[in-house]
Amino acid sequence: MTGGYMFTPLCGYSDNGRALFEYCKKEKVTFGYYYDLDALHSRLDVIDKSLAPFFRILFSLKANSAPKLLANIAARSRFGADVSSENELRAALQSGFGREDVFFVGPGKSISELQSAIELGIGSIIVESIYELGVIDRIAALVGMRPSAVLRINPTYEVRGVRMAMGGRPTQFGMNEADAIRILLNSEHLYPNIDMGGIHAYVGTRILSAKDALWNIYKVMECAENILRKGVKMSVVDIGGGLGIPYYSDEPEFDFGLFIDRLPAGLSDFPLVRQNCRIYMESGRFLTGPVGCFFAQVRETTVAGDEQHVEINATPALHALSHGGVLTRDKEFFGASLTSEGWLAGTIPTHVWYRVNGRRRKWPTKVLCGPASENDFIIFLNSGAYGPAVSPVWENLEGYPTELTGTKGDICKIGTQLGCMELANMQALVLSDK
Ligand SMILES: Cc1ncc(COP(=O)(O)O)c(C=O)c1O
Repeated sequence: MTGGYMFTPLCGYSDNGRALFEYCKKEKVTFGYYYDLDALHSRLDVIDKSLAPFFRILFSLKANSAPKLLANIAARSRFGADVSSENELRAALQSGFGREDVFFVGPGKSISELQSAIELGIGSIIVESIYELGVIDRIAALVGMRPSAVLRINPTYEVRGVRMAMGGRPTQFGMNEADAIRILLNSEHLYPNIDMGGIHAYVGTRILSAKDALWNIYKVMECAENILRKGVKMSVVDIGGGLGIPYYSDEPEFDFGLFIDRLPAGLSDFPLVRQNCRIYMESGRFLTGPVGCFFAQVRETTVAGDEQHVEINATPALHALSHGGVLTRDKEFFGASLTSEGWLAGTIPTHVWYRVNGRRRKWPTKVLCGPASENDFIIFLNSGAYGPAVSPVWENLEGYPTELTGTKGDICKIGTQLGCMELANMQALVLSDK
């Protein structure tokens, strides 16, 4: 494993790299997120073509809900969307996903969110608890609609390879298998206003081994077959997903080739596949992660042996992926650099420094960057998912980071950008109201 692999797909688009550098220079952008639409399109094409014969893919909006990306995904692929809030639901519909292709998943849905999902007639509501099922049934009766529901199971089988687990022990995620079987067998009687579609299991994420991902998928399929044998009809199985991307220099790339090679034979063991059952897979970071990066301008550089030290114009609050907590490790984050020549592959372990409140501090992790001089940029690769969305972006009052897209050498600023002065003004308005 070298930094070389990670240099594509984002950095395969050299025109976009040079254009991004020029854009940032001209517009005085010193840090932000960049999403490469050409890289997104080729990634979507490969994933869509390879997986469409087996699964319907649902893009998880929690990974990245920038409308420009969503519109590209909706227009370019056959993917549906998995959403976890009413705002995500509306963003998916506004971006062009068909309502029947949207699944609403996740614990803690409010009554008004459930009502909107039912009234909008979305593809399915993934039900996390028996309580939620009761609420859906009552709302459906009140509004005179018949929503489709899929029961999320918290599995007891052995789950492999997940680096962030959701389920497998008592959690807020899903119900036990016995309850699900009882409900599915008696659904017409217990929940007469709901169309019971089938089951869902999402066991965790950041799976980097194709074999482990296949194991987990087959386990969900086995679980579904078990339920089927009890006499339950099933039209939907959502196998979750959790395909990962590497962030640190000792993490392997997910072997998508192996995954695709093994999948047909593995799935052919399950009669459900030959019946009229739709199989869904949810994916967020695997789709948009590798096509986006976080970039920050260099103030000064010092070379020290095989390593370099750079001071940049941004703080870790803008990039939670490398910011401490869950992911930080004593390894280099995959990176690159961007100069007037374009992208330069990440080969140099780089200590990153930043200033906050006048003090010089060290970034929580090293980054494997290319050479970068004053006014060049260092790049944190694989940051197109869970970027600004999970970063405490206001922490140092730096403001929400700029987000840019690029295609065929054209750079475009997306969304509304907020700086710290806008935030201060908003607070001033609130104060003057009182
Ligand atoms: C139910 C569910 N689906 C999909 C996802 C997306 O995960 P990832 O972006 O790792 O594919 C998550 C992540 O937490 C999830 O909880």
